[in-house]
Amino acid sequence: MNEDKRGKKKEKAAESAASLIKDGMVVGLGTGSTAEFVIRRIGVRIKEEGLEVLGVPTSLRTEMLAIECGIPITTLSEHPALDICIDGADQVDSQLNLIKGGWGSHTREKIVSYAAKKLVICIEEEKLVEMLNKPVPLEVLPYAVKIVDREVKELGGVPVLREEGNKGGYFITENENLIIDADFGVINNPEEMSVALSSIVGSVEHGIFTNVAEVHVGNEKGVKILKK
Ligand code: A5P
Repeated sequence: MNEDKRGKKKEKAAESAASLIKDGMVVGLGTGSTAEFVIRRIGVRIKEEGLEVLGVPTSLRTEMLAIECGIPITTLSEHPALDICIDGADQVDSQLNLIKGGWGSHTREKIVSYAAKKLVICIEEEKLVEMLNKPVPLEVLPYAVKIVDREVKELGGVPVLREEGNKGGYFITENENLIIDADFGVINNPEEMSVALSSIVGSVEHGIFTNVAEVHVGNEKGVKILKK
């Protein structure tokens, strides 16, 4: 029931963000349950309004759904400059810094978001916090996992190698890497933490995003739009 309510809020936020898309736009398509609402909404707009867009997916899962919804797909190589990128997030602070990567897709999500003129995030209100405090996902080359582990500890974090399923297997990303979820408790300065994490050799990308333009927050009544 609670999950159902959150789902409805995600859907409202997703529909609000999807309304920003205009004819001719090249759109970055995020990954996750909220991004799926965005993709389905774009599909409806294509069918009902004849909306003409191209989508750049951030994961195979997103690509498959976009195709199912009738969204023409393109690549970053063909369209390195996107008009907009719409995605979900795991947590958003009062300064609109984000933590992403719950689905392990944050590397491609970050690349696509930086290729876009504008990153728009949609979340349910429960994900809004004063300060970020969730573990930060780091995509890590398997060869470097122990080194990254050590560096996270050096920065005061507690690293946990992400597992998948119940057979003791590790989560493998689409880039064939591992994920370390690094718990730093409350993150006082996300910009500083982002720079520190970016300097860890062997970590491909981390899940702190500081480049959002607006956040659409779904609540019981409707959607609140927060802008940077
Ligand atoms: C994917 O790796 C993540 O960045 C997602 O965007 C994030 O985990 C939000 O997911 P939900 O929309 O499913 O909550």
